[in-house]
Amino acid sequence: MRSLHLDADNPAAPLVTRDLPRAPLGPTALRVRVHAVSLNRRDLMIRAGTYPVPPTPGVVPLSDGAGEVVEVGRAVTRFAIGDRVTSCYFPQWIDGRLSLAQAMQQAGCSLPGWLADEVVAEEQAVLAMPDHLGFDEAATLPCAGLTAWNGLTGGRPVRAGSTVLTLGAGSIAVFAIQFAKALGARVIATTSSDDKAARLASLGADEVLNYRQSVDWDREVLRLTGGRGADHVIEAIGPATLERSLRCAAWDADIGLMGVFGGDDSRFDPRAFSGRVLTLRRIAVGSRSDFEAMNRLIAAHRLRPVIDRVFPVEEAEAAYRHLADSAHLGKVVIRVAG
Ligand SMILES: NC(=O)c1ccc[n+]([C@@H]2O[C@H](COP(=O)([O-])OP(=O)(O)OC[C@H]3O[C@@H](n4cnc5c(N)ncnc54)[C@H](OP(=O)(O)O)[C@@H]3O)[C@@H](O)[C@H]2O)c1
Repeated sequence: MRSLHLDADNPAAPLVTRDLPRAPLGPTALRVRVHAVSLNRRDLMIRAGTYPVPPTPGVVPLSDGAGEVVEVGRAVTRFAIGDRVTSCYFPQWIDGRLSLAQAMQQAGCSLPGWLADEVVAEEQAVLAMPDHLGFDEAATLPCAGLTAWNGLTGGRPVRAGSTVLTLGAGSIAVFAIQFAKALGARVIATTSSDDKAARLASLGADEVLNYRQSVDWDREVLRLTGGRGADHVIEAIGPATLERSLRCAAWDADIGLMGVFGGDDSRFDPRAFSGRVLTLRRIAVGSRSDFEAMNRLIAAHRLRPVIDRVFPVEEAEAAYRHLADSAHLGKVVIRVAG
């Protein structure tokens, strides 16, 4: 069994390849042949030492993976050999509210991740892939896809006809545009380039604002909504945009806060809340139950995740660099097998 690992002493050092004997299978565990994994910004943060949960030294990285069940423990009931499954970011968060203990148990960080040709996973910690998706596509869903879904539905769910605002052309925003359109919403998106604006429009965004040209994009959102503002904001950026997000949110809007972009120089002034009623919800990906609900929407609308680029596993480091360059639109995938 071949796996890639963070360097135990220095996670920023090149990944270490190891050939290890197959781990034994517990009664409720599955052995999964991994076909594809995808990268998230947190995977860069883990290697840079800026992620709030410390990685286990030498851990196999990456939370997001998809593969095929090749062996089942004797007490497994949910899956059979040949089933196609995806990972869960929080393997122990099945449903309900997230506890701190569950939050600390993360695949590809405190727990082993999926950058390996095989993984052993508890059957409760994976779920079936939507039938119409390939492994590359399914591997994009566990973090960015589910975070977007949680932002749209985990508080007061988006209703047909409501206005959703997405910020930047990052992976969460791209998923949010696809899901919001499938839910019947109007979508206003922002991005930094006209090329990306055209891509977001082709994915269904009704209006796209270039936030470099329209620096006062919050005013534009108000203008486009006749002064009403956005009912839902997918705040995948954070301190650098939050004040403007509040200013162009509708009365009693829902703001899902995921992002941590902005740097040390961005300042959020809490007086921006004054005179406003809204729900600000800091999101942590989602539970397996949320993931199952998202997959039902993906299957019903035959949605296809947007993939920017697929790298072979031998070029895993190049995949990390590609994400760090931030020129992507859609997910960065590493194909492990197949
Ligand atoms: N809380 C959670 O559960 C959770 C889960 C996943 C991710 N996250 C966090 O959410 C954030 C987004 O994740 P992602 O996967 O979407 O990242 P991503 O794909 O790497 O997004 C990168 C994009 O963010 C946009 N951006 C960066 N700074 C911006 C700014 N000041 N104003 C507007 N847009 C800006 C850029 O869009 P343009 O190219 O259009 O400029 C860039 O292409 C990250 O901070 C990540 O760590 C949180």
